[in-house]
Amino acid sequence: MPMLDHLFDRNVAWAQAKTRDDPDYFRRMAEVQSPQYLWIGCSDSRVTANDVLGLDPGQVFVHRNIANIVHTSDMNILSVLEFAIEHLHIRHIIVCGHYGCGGIERALSDEKSALVDHWLQPIVMLYRKHRAHLDAIADPVARLDRMCEINIELQVRRIASTPIVEQAWLRELPIMIHGWIYGVHDGLMRALGPPVRSLAERDAMASIDARVLDPVEPESMIRRHAIEAFAEITSFEPAEGFDCCDGHALKLEGP
Ligand code: CO
Repeated sequence: MPMLDHLFDRNVAWAQAKTRDDPDYFRRMAEVQSPQYLWIGCSDSRVTANDVLGLDPGQVFVHRNIANIVHTSDMNILSVLEFAIEHLHIRHIIVCGHYGCGGIERALSDEKSALVDHWLQPIVMLYRKHRAHLDAIADPVARLDRMCEINIELQVRRIASTPIVEQAWLRELPIMIHGWIYGVHDGLMRALGPPVRSLAERDAMASIDARVLDPVEPESMIRRHAIEAFAEITSFEPAEGFDCCDGHALKLEGP
């Protein structure tokens, strides 16, 4: 009977390496956890929150399920959400899906014979509603990736509509909900629009149906850093007689 001894061996090697590099590592880990981020992601084995964020254990509180779906009757995710906000005092909620998601691919297929198809129903229904528009994307990979993005936007709206988050915003807790997508092909995260920070911002959001018809181009973190760096330059006041670029301020598309 396989006992997976190799995993225990790897565990011992890992714990020894950690202690060798940082003798206090496990003493710190044994203290109370104080993560700053809640990660709601896909169960996909390639998208592990700590790794892609470059964070140590203890820094991100994680909930994962197939296709990072927020079912508003799911006691699991609601408990995680409440615990994260009320007890861990987390203020950043990151809904992060990924390109090439097998769950979303399943939702776009005609296979409807397993429990997972019940789980994926919100995506299936959204796809059916906009099928003519989405099927007009001829490349199946591009269509899948588009649906992966739409799914994240939908789940951001669902998190923002839970009574847990609504109550937190009413109490003026600075909760921010971020919708991101991860590229398994390049290891980079992209933001799908600015974070949602209040009831007013949530209510001002375009409907998910409108988003299907008018997508945002994802903004990689690298591009965002570039935009922020250049934003400082746009505030530069040219001196009198400074005629570079005819004195026009450098203009960049905002996020
Ligand atoms: Co996935």
